[in-house]
Amino acid sequence: MAGNESGSPVRYALVDCDPGVDDTLALAMGFASPFFRYDAVTTVHGNVSARLAYRNARRLTAFLRDHLESPVLDVPVYPGASLALDGSRMNRSESRAIHGPEGMGAMFDKKRRLPRPGRGSSKPAWEVMVEEAARRGSALTIITLGPLTNLALALRRAPGVFTRVKRIVVMGGAARMPGNVTPAAEFNIYCDPLAAKEVFSSGLPVTMVGLDVTRRALLRVDEFEGGGPFRAAIRDLIKVYARFAKKRRGAEDITLHDPLALAVAMRPDLVETTPCRVDVDASRGIARGMTVVELRENRGSRVKNPVDVALDLDVKGFLAFFISHLRKYRGWDEDEK
Ligand code: BDR
Ligand code: CA
Repeated sequence: MAGNESGSPVRYALVDCDPGVDDTLALAMGFASPFFRYDAVTTVHGNVSARLAYRNARRLTAFLRDHLESPVLDVPVYPGASLALDGSRMNRSESRAIHGPEGMGAMFDKKRRLPRPGRGSSKPAWEVMVEEAARRGSALTIITLGPLTNLALALRRAPGVFTRVKRIVVMGGAARMPGNVTPAAEFNIYCDPLAAKEVFSSGLPVTMVGLDVTRRALLRVDEFEGGGPFRAAIRDLIKVYARFAKKRRGAEDITLHDPLALAVAMRPDLVETTPCRVDVDASRGIARGMTVVELRENRGSRVKNPVDVALDLDVKGFLAFFISHLRKYRGWDEDEK
């Protein structure tokens, strides 16, 4: 395994996402940390169409790189699946109200100079996942921040290749909580329940970071007041998201679903997990997309290759971790251009 300057092994990450306001915040946090070397960002349908997710991720990686002193990033972005495995497509009217019509709030509206898109490719996401898993093996962590279609396709193609991967951290599902898109289902799982079922039953080392913990990862919007141009861009990013939160919950605090999943990949100690069997309702009935988590006493330990389900969170520790990374960007503070 390759080593970094300090001689410790390099950890590689592949992030699969559907940007998305909180996907954007997750990548911003992750790229500012030296913890992972990001080999690839793959994109998928979800909050926006697959086409917009790919475009947004390319703009975003370029924008983030421009505002970071180090490391210099040129992370390639790959296009992914545009439909769920069962051929269904989400109605995105609520997503538009949450993430803005194009998925990134007002971050790249006319008043801000659009970054030249970062490195793209026509190689499909699932193929990149298979190649990365084969190339990096136990040095690779896969973090999924959107529907699991790309990963399920990759597992179908080459299941054996993924057995060496260090961990797969999934933002999605709910164990002891109602859903957010229906009473039963969390959004990412609902978008492609069959894909989620295949990933959770794969026997691979999967951590589920679901609504049980992400609903508690609430950040006050005044963290983004003042400062320089980078902070202003983040303010524009979260405006619609915060407005929707206010309408829904009465408070503008924003829920950091995706940043928490990526943070857990770096700092597993931020959550407490329980090993459980996780199944998913992939029917078209009222429980479609529900994650059915085996939490009955003494049954988790009997399950072979369980999923580690996050049930408790160090809220303060996570929020401090998140903000400390955003502060690293040039233009966070007022005097930085
Ligand atoms: C998940 O759904 C999406 O809207 C967010 O980006 C996050 O990945 C939360 O349920
Ligand atoms: Ca997402």
